[in-house]
Amino acid sequence: MVKIKGILLAGGTGYRLHPLTKVTNKHLLAVYDEPMIYYPLRTLVSAGIKDIMIISGTGHAGDFVNLLGSGKEFGVKLSYEVQDEPGGIAHALRLAKDFVGDDNCLVILGDNVFDHNIEPVLKKALSQFKAGGMVFLKKVSDANRFGVAELSGDKVISIEEKPDKPKSNYAVTGLYLYDNKVFDIIKTIKRSARDELEISDVNTVYLKQGKLKYHLFEGNWTDAGTVESLYRASTLARDLKLKKSL
Ligand code: DAU
Repeated sequence: MVKIKGILLAGGTGYRLHPLTKVTNKHLLAVYDEPMIYYPLRTLVSAGIKDIMIISGTGHAGDFVNLLGSGKEFGVKLSYEVQDEPGGIAHALRLAKDFVGDDNCLVILGDNVFDHNIEPVLKKALSQFKAGGMVFLKKVSDANRFGVAELSGDKVISIEEKPDKPKSNYAVTGLYLYDNKVFDIIKTIKRSARDELEISDVNTVYLKQGKLKYHLFEGNWTDAGTVESLYRASTLARDLKLKKSL
């Protein structure tokens, strides 16, 4: 069986959270009672992944090592990589090429919080996954803030990054399952208008190759990259923890 490595992306500028992120990294901020990065890390752990790489920017790489160490506390082996400039999600992901090697990878953004319903979804997806790419969608009311997937039956027919007029209410969450061809695809994409290598462009290549699948997630999910969504993430974490479902 092909192995799945985990990749947790914790770089970027966090500019939408200034001044909270002026002297620290977004993923170290509190979401309710824990550092933000604990949530996506636990999502990878819950999927049964044992080998995880954390990619962060230059400023706070040491803080992640101080916080998470070898990964022993989470029952996993952690590796660390540094992204020299915040060149986008795909720019960060490409740093994991050698780490992934011949395996597949489950990638999660460090500011994404999923409830425990993601565990069976991921376990099923991982056990069935052979090749290509898979995105996890969530119905939202503010799709223009996200990558947006247009669907036709069981197919994704387009993905647009933060469109002014979203073609659907399906946000592409920050959780992606890829084969190791993803690294060849990243080499072919160009920087976007915001000067980033966009993960939506990577997903669009898989889509055009007819190799992109999707799962519509019915549980709770939020990002935590803006003041409002950070607040929402804390509220969600509190509610779920009090109900013992996170
Ligand atoms: O949360 C889901 C959304 O995340 C998706 O719907 C979008 O398609 C995707 O582009 C992304 O949108 P954001 O604008 O929210 O991405 P942001 O720049 O906030 O980056 C999200 C995470 O990615 C961040 O918490 C850490 C990681 N990242 C980001 C950049 C730009 C890096 O590791 N390095 C980077 O250079």
